[in-house]
Amino acid sequence: MNRIKNTLFFALIFCNLTVFAQKKQIDIAALIGKMSIEEKAGEMTQLDLGLIANGDVCNLTQPQSINQAKLKKAISQYHIGSFLNVGCGSGTISRENWQKIFAAIQSETKNTKLQIPIIFGIDAIHGNNYTIGATLFPQQIAQAATWNPDLVKQGYEVTAYEARASGIPWNFSPVLDLGRQPLWSRFFETFGEDVLLANKMTVAAISGLQGDNQYSPYHVAACMKHFLGYSMPLSGKDRTPIWLSEREMREYYLPTFQTAIQQGAKTVMINSADINGTPVHANYDILTTLLRNELGFKGVALTDWEDIYKLVDMHHVAATKKEAVYMAIMAGIDMSMTPNDYQFTDLLIELIKEGRIPMSRIDSSVSRILTLKYELGLFENKDTQTKYPLFGSAEHAAKSLAVANECITLLKNNKQTLPLKNKKESVFVCGPGAYSLNYLNGAWTHTWQGVDTNFNTKNKLTTLAAIQKIAGANRVAYALGTSIDQIINIDDCLAKAKNADKIIICLAETPSTEIPGNIDNLYLPKAQEDLVIALSKLNKPIILVCTFNRPRILKNIIPLVDAIVYAYLPGDEGGKAIASVLFGETNPSGKLPFSYPADANSLLHYDRKYAENINVDFSNKGYSPAFDFGFGMSYSNFNYSGMVVSKNTLNDNDSIQVSVVVKNTSEMKGKEVVQIYYADLVASISPSVKKLLAFKKIDLAAGEQQTITFQIHKNDLSFINKQLKRVTEAGEFDLMIQNETKRIYVN
Ligand code: BGC
Repeated sequence: MNRIKNTLFFALIFCNLTVFAQKKQIDIAALIGKMSIEEKAGEMTQLDLGLIANGDVCNLTQPQSINQAKLKKAISQYHIGSFLNVGCGSGTISRENWQKIFAAIQSETKNTKLQIPIIFGIDAIHGNNYTIGATLFPQQIAQAATWNPDLVKQGYEVTAYEARASGIPWNFSPVLDLGRQPLWSRFFETFGEDVLLANKMTVAAISGLQGDNQYSPYHVAACMKHFLGYSMPLSGKDRTPIWLSEREMREYYLPTFQTAIQQGAKTVMINSADINGTPVHANYDILTTLLRNELGFKGVALTDWEDIYKLVDMHHVAATKKEAVYMAIMAGIDMSMTPNDYQFTDLLIELIKEGRIPMSRIDSSVSRILTLKYELGLFENKDTQTKYPLFGSAEHAAKSLAVANECITLLKNNKQTLPLKNKKESVFVCGPGAYSLNYLNGAWTHTWQGVDTNFNTKNKLTTLAAIQKIAGANRVAYALGTSIDQIINIDDCLAKAKNADKIIICLAETPSTEIPGNIDNLYLPKAQEDLVIALSKLNKPIILVCTFNRPRILKNIIPLVDAIVYAYLPGDEGGKAIASVLFGETNPSGKLPFSYPADANSLLHYDRKYAENINVDFSNKGYSPAFDFGFGMSYSNFNYSGMVVSKNTLNDNDSIQVSVVVKNTSEMKGKEVVQIYYADLVASISPSVKKLLAFKKIDLAAGEQQTITFQIHKNDLSFINKQLKRVTEAGEFDLMIQNETKRIYVN
């Protein structure tokens, strides 16, 4: 039954593609007609650069260079369609070096019968991080903390420009998985826990990377990662099972992908894990019924790293690699990130020749891949003449700094400890985060795990260096104190701190991603806690600066400190940004894109259900985070008043305007994120206590006031019901801005 259904479906898809191809790109249909089975299977294969470079796969000769014999095997014998760079032997190389690599690959393709260009993909995760001198931006979680999609978009434009400048047209970014499980090692790669905020950032990322979706030598293809539900492993450990109802999946984890598809995202990478027991790489319902038929995605679906083989080795749903290839391709995969051997290609050829995988199924994938290459201008080798004078420029660094400045979130500021205005005061700086560019950048920085210091961008300031630059070295004393998890010398810190007026402790987490980043609890390592506790005995004002991969529990030390500057992973300009906030050159305006847990087993989200409000003493304080979602202080004071709704009843095709007056009552100009929330009072699915409805980031001069208006439609108040449909049910809703609430009725 299923097989018949599949065959019919593929026949339909192929007809559509042919029509599409005939209308727009007649050459692609013709090209497919000329391709052999071997050429088609090769086209659907992506290998790591290690397979065509000098040296061993995990021990490449640096800087990477092409090995002609290996290249010939890949291109002329196997007709490989795509390469990526991130294998265990990868490193960061110059633009010139990248260009040499691509020139060698392209010239080999010229020796083939059909001369199909290869497509190279890379993880330019927070900037084009595998090219020396590229501009590195704050990681996604920090971008989300700006609540400023326009600014974030500019960062993606720079990343696209600098990737193209290195000859790379395809970026495995952004991560659209929602960050609702802080134990997960890739939390920092997400736009946080909220669907609406993540959706706005998704639009910024896709449009920044892809431009208007027409060919441009300054834009690249985006890759939505990792379809679907990847960020919510039950145990918190990367690539472990996900147990989620379809309703929950549609409510929380699908919308960002839906948004990206509407935005024209050209490619998608698949979740390596299993959902409710079925590995996503073998799930026809997710990869075809949902992704293609329902969401209408027309682009390329790429596996994640070795994930077809993992159907055998990790998931045990296929007995052999051949069966695994069959399952994944029939489920809807277009391209296999194989990436370290040719078995996938050989097995796919066998399956096609045996007639087990119909040619129509193969042709639809090949057509999508060729269309992608065509749209990126690869057939014409279009962008080789383009110049990229802004690569790694001061102008691009300024954009990174702007994002870093706006992400920094002030979580505590007792007695106006910050900003540090008194030019006569001395400060003592310590902690593992003070003197490291790597801890500011996190993983995917020049290497996969981001811990190698050899490739660090030249002339970037650590937090300590940036503090010294502003305050003058003679006002600043420094000692390390502890590494991430070992005490180095706390006595040294105590001795130096005694002579200082204020103490700045830079806490940090070792950069890591994927399985190497799995942790067993969220507590801050004891050594760093001990450092704070010891210094607190001096009774001097303490300022914490935090650069973490995810919220680490600060419960034991929050009461001991006067100010907390939460900087996420702010990138190469992060040191500067932190120092400028500390000294008041920047007025902080970041807001938390997640609920900061008070304790390790208290992982509730702000958009919790009413049942989660109940506390051990039966009070309604069950949700008591260390810091609330959307929270972040400023050096200015903003006063909210006069919330007004344009009417009390909302009908179909109608909207309500909600306005509020925000006034900067301080003497310092500042930015504020005006946030409106709603509560559906009674619904057929237990509603959230509150949900973000809209937001706007505004600039207010000292004493200035503005009236902010939000336009609310019925669909903005919707949810996924039991029948898996998006609905807004009639009834009462509360709209909330700061301390004011207005009740409306929805028909
Ligand atoms: C990661 C992806 C990444 C890919 C290629 C995988 O292990 O999960 O996010 O894009 O490797 O480097």
